[in-house]
Amino acid sequence: MATNKKAESNGAPSRPLNLPGNRIVTLDEFIIRSEKDFDYATGELTGLLRDIGVAAKIINREVNKAGLVSILGVADGAENTSGDMQQKLDVYANEKIIECLQNSGECCAIASEENDSILQIPSVGSKQSKYVVMFDPLDGSSNIDVNVSVGTIFAIYRRKSDPEGPANVNDFLQQGSKQVAAGYVLYGTSTILVYTTGNGVNGFTLDPSIGEFCLSHRNMRIPENGKFYSVNQGYYSKFDLEMRRYVDNCSDQNYGLRYIGSMVSDIHRILIQGGIFLYPSTRKYPKGKLRLLYECNPLAMIVEQAGGTAINTQLKRILDMDPKELHQRCTVAIGSPAMVEELRAFIERYSALPL
Ligand code: AHG
Ligand code: MN
Ligand code: MN
Repeated sequence: MATNKKAESNGAPSRPLNLPGNRIVTLDEFIIRSEKDFDYATGELTGLLRDIGVAAKIINREVNKAGLVSILGVADGAENTSGDMQQKLDVYANEKIIECLQNSGECCAIASEENDSILQIPSVGSKQSKYVVMFDPLDGSSNIDVNVSVGTIFAIYRRKSDPEGPANVNDFLQQGSKQVAAGYVLYGTSTILVYTTGNGVNGFTLDPSIGEFCLSHRNMRIPENGKFYSVNQGYYSKFDLEMRRYVDNCSDQNYGLRYIGSMVSDIHRILIQGGIFLYPSTRKYPKGKLRLLYECNPLAMIVEQAGGTAINTQLKRILDMDPKELHQRCTVAIGSPAMVEELRAFIERYSALPL
């Protein structure tokens, strides 16, 4: 299997790209210049990332219009409450990503939060597609109704099955450490696309006036420590003892609580300001709520590549987990390394489960 030359470097590129400092660098230009970082520099991944960039622009356009649904109506006219529109945007985003992934012909199959099973992507001419893509088309979608940020999360893997035949579910059930690229798009006060190919993390802000993602956050590094924790503290009484002790400690130390309820937005803030994001087991979700393959793994890769840590509440590295099913859930603790270490000590001290 071809590997990314820098996949294990966990952070800043050792050989920074030679980019012009005095003019705009678009996502497309950056992707093409970065191609040489791969030992299979054939442009395949370039095509895939560009497909995702196009889908992000289309979804951004629709998300931005979401507040107008009550005066413009929903496209098919059948439903017109904002709740229905929120539902529709999940499906709309899903369809657009699938459509765009057909452009380059590099993706042979997808798995999505919105599809129960994997979906084969028709090939382009006689091209043998080597990649599979997993995604959460719209993360935090319950926030749309109230004009709060949502996102898209994606993970790209090389398929394991024979390229002559159809892809199968085992192409998707790979450890997160095998991701060749991962990223997210945050539709926030501005829209930003953040991705990694295992050679550090870069962010591109959409300039709506020219319709291009432009390099705005070079070589992103998460602060070593932080002063904010991000968890749904409403479930406090349903947390295990070690998590309640840790949350008490955060409060004792005067850490600020920030929780948007859209994982992409919470992780993006933590990436920039430092902090820790937690979704532990609760009585309703004993294995955690978030999905391993298209929520936790890609965001874990981004955070690790920026110098952070991503583990589950059994203290296992997220990227080393062996997925058993497509929509598997897992618990998560992601963020600044010093804060995750602090949590680790609480788990080791108070957990009733063998670690
Ligand atoms: P999605 O909208 O894709 O279903 O994801 C929502 C997720 C995640 O983004 C967020 O962190 C979490 O659900 C919030 O869950 P709670 O409301 O239980 O805190
Ligand atoms: Mn989600
Ligand atoms: Mn979603």
